[in-house]
Amino acid sequence: MEIAVVGTGYVGLVTGTCFAEMGNTVICVDKDAAKVERMRRGESPIYEVGLADMMQRNIAEDRLSFTTSLQDAAVSSDIFFIAVGTNPAPDGSADLKHVEAVARELGQCISRRAIIVNKSTVPVGTGEKVESIIRAELDKRGADIEFEVVSNPEFLKEGVAVQDFMTPDRVIVGTDSEWARDVMHELYCSFTHKTDRVLFMGRRDAEMAKYAANAMLATKISFMNEIANLCERLDVDVEQVRHGIGSDPRIGYSFIYPGIGYGGSCFPKDVKALVHMAGEVGFDAAVLRSVEQRNNQQKQRLNERITEHFGNDLSGMRFGLWGLAFKPGTDDMREAPSKVILEYLIEHGATVVAYDPKAMDAARRELPREWQESGKLEFADHQYDACHDVDALILATEWKPFRHPDFDAMKKKMKQPVVFDGRNQYDPEQLTKLGFSYIGIGRQAAFGA
Ligand SMILES: NC(=O)c1ccc[n+]([C@@H]2O[C@H](COP(=O)([O-])OP(=O)(O)OC[C@H]3O[C@@H](n4cnc5c(N)ncnc54)[C@H](O)[C@@H]3O)[C@@H](O)[C@H]2O)c1
Repeated sequence: MEIAVVGTGYVGLVTGTCFAEMGNTVICVDKDAAKVERMRRGESPIYEVGLADMMQRNIAEDRLSFTTSLQDAAVSSDIFFIAVGTNPAPDGSADLKHVEAVARELGQCISRRAIIVNKSTVPVGTGEKVESIIRAELDKRGADIEFEVVSNPEFLKEGVAVQDFMTPDRVIVGTDSEWARDVMHELYCSFTHKTDRVLFMGRRDAEMAKYAANAMLATKISFMNEIANLCERLDVDVEQVRHGIGSDPRIGYSFIYPGIGYGGSCFPKDVKALVHMAGEVGFDAAVLRSVEQRNNQQKQRLNERITEHFGNDLSGMRFGLWGLAFKPGTDDMREAPSKVILEYLIEHGATVVAYDPKAMDAARRELPREWQESGKLEFADHQYDACHDVDALILATEWKPFRHPDFDAMKKKMKQPVVFDGRNQYDPEQLTKLGFSYIGIGRQAAFGA
């Protein structure tokens, strides 16, 4: 099939590359010319396991190409995926300006029967909106072209995005059109060959399913963080509680890790957008409001523990920070809890030396220049360099190389052997025996302090 994917971020680039991998001809469109240049050379602008190799293979075999011109892409394409960002507007609603801009452009340039697929996460009713924008543009041109707007929300996880796309748990397609249903089924059945996992439903149902999935996962995280806060106050180890409840198959182990809050480009904005959507129809989404509130508070939890341990004035102190990305496996720093910690430490007079296996370039780009130029924030070349002469080490992202480090080597390098474990990766008793002060989440006030 001839496919155009508009927007080449985490979703669009993975979508386009994986469709090409299955033998389709794909042209990816992005308005960012510098990004398009890099992708043409086979460079991935984002870090995702296996993505760059797959891109290079498909470019070499002429199935994958890149352009800044949707008009050029429209000449040969029958299916258009919209995969542009839907960041929050100031009122918390999903800002649809990019989706609407693409819809307008599509109305101006499609020249034959087309299926338009909305892969961006969009509020219920956006399918109708996109349809009417395209129709209005076609009317202006006096063009009578048949088209369908389909909802096909994306469920890939950053960090394992290629694997998720190639072997999806399910593919949701929202449409009432038999034509669109057949085309989408044919397109996706190569990914769900073993057992058919394409679920068809109404367009509005599909739009809501995406928000409900993310809100459910965010709720699990905030719920567990709430329990962790209670555990701290009741002298209970939340890790024991986690094992105790995760073993119940009705609950399961996924998304019940206590920590320093969820980040990334999806959960925070999607919970906000759902609360806003509820407000627009006169409904108070009380549970979701609390999920967001707990998460905002949880992002401060390690900062509070640092204050409890060291006091309010951190001037002259130096902290090591392991992990900048919002989760392991990605270089994405959008809404990362590490940013909240960095801001707190630097505002309270400390300096920080940070290390992340993949997000160093993103951090250099996104974190304030002033921090970097003034020496308030340094970047280490190796994880152990971030322990050198520090008063404490903070673990913010649970990358695998941080899970089982050489504690003796760390201790020798550190000025004070203090570990703030924002992801409960370490055994408090082991660290205490080794002479560290250990402060985790949802565990006794502090071990060895
Ligand atoms: N990141 C995820 O893990 C994830 C997972 C599932 C769903 N989603 C949803 O998918 C959508 C895209 O997310 P993302 O993280 O890939 O976004 P992103 O911000 O990484 O990428 C969006 C891309 O779209 C491009 N763009 C914007 N307007 C354009 C236009 N008019 N024409 C061409 N290109 C344009 C931008 O230049 C950018 O490269 C969002 O709605 C998001 O909620 C994201």
